[in-house]
Amino acid sequence: MNLITLNEEKCIKCKLCIKACPVNVLRMGENGPEEIANTNCIACGHCVAICPNAAIDNKKTPLSQQIELKDFPKLNQQQAEYFLRSRRSIRNYKDESVSREKLTKLIDIARLAPTASNSQGISFVVVQNKQLLEKTVEISIQMIEVSPLRHLVEKAIVSYRKEGMDSIFRGAPNLIIAISNKDFKYGRDNAVSCLTYLELYAPSLGLGSCWAGIFEHCASIDDSPMLKLFNIPEEKKVVGAVMIGYPKYTFKRLVDKNSLDATFIV
Ligand SMILES: Cc1cc2nc3c(=O)[nH]c(=O)nc-3n(C[C@H](O)[C@H](O)[C@H](O)COP(=O)(O)O)c2cc1C
Repeated sequence: MNLITLNEEKCIKCKLCIKACPVNVLRMGENGPEEIANTNCIACGHCVAICPNAAIDNKKTPLSQQIELKDFPKLNQQQAEYFLRSRRSIRNYKDESVSREKLTKLIDIARLAPTASNSQGISFVVVQNKQLLEKTVEISIQMIEVSPLRHLVEKAIVSYRKEGMDSIFRGAPNLIIAISNKDFKYGRDNAVSCLTYLELYAPSLGLGSCWAGIFEHCASIDDSPMLKLFNIPEEKKVVGAVMIGYPKYTFKRLVDKNSLDATFIV
């Protein structure tokens, strides 16, 4: 309770804050919107962000911490399509390390992604240690060699054993691991959302990324040796991972995927 404060002089009673609230925290009172008792604000910040007059504040999402969006240039339809389609999984990286500043910027964008009921709950482990990543490649290969999924990654195992080829991290100098509490049911869903934001944002920093699915599989197994290797706290589980680095090559074309499969019900 008492999350919301209203500047009655500024409020024009347009009700936008009430309409925007996904969990019905507000109702219209005599002097403007007021908080309903025993509601559970999910801290999405919509009430504050939508107010045309900056009349409402919320302790969970203070007005002072929101960025004024005035003439924000929107991508046009084609720019938006090309922006999304030009994200590619990068599997060839320059031998160049990425600054902590850039890696921090990446995860600071990732945390802003949509999550179930705004539950968030994703933390990040950022690995910059090349030797540790090389050790992880060896352990991952050992794990998948004896896994029932071996047949799916047979080529990766053979090329690693014969030529030392890294099919786990593709030679990327960095790895970002998403972790959540073990009992958090939205851990994986929220991580996919966060890492998708991260992957889309990476090219704006000159970076490329690729989901590290084989590593993630190995790290998600109960009592995985990866948990100790990366100092993952006892109460946490691995819910996603992406490799990060500077792409060695540039894609010249946008690729199509399976044709659209959709049903409209009217
Ligand atoms: C859950 C998931 C796991 C993945 N695991 C790997 C992986 O272990 N190694 C890899 O090279 N690519 C991996 N990828 C990348 C996919 O192969 C890639 O997204 C797909 O081929 C489409 O290419 P694009 O991302 O460039 O559009 C993974 C992607 C997802 C979503």
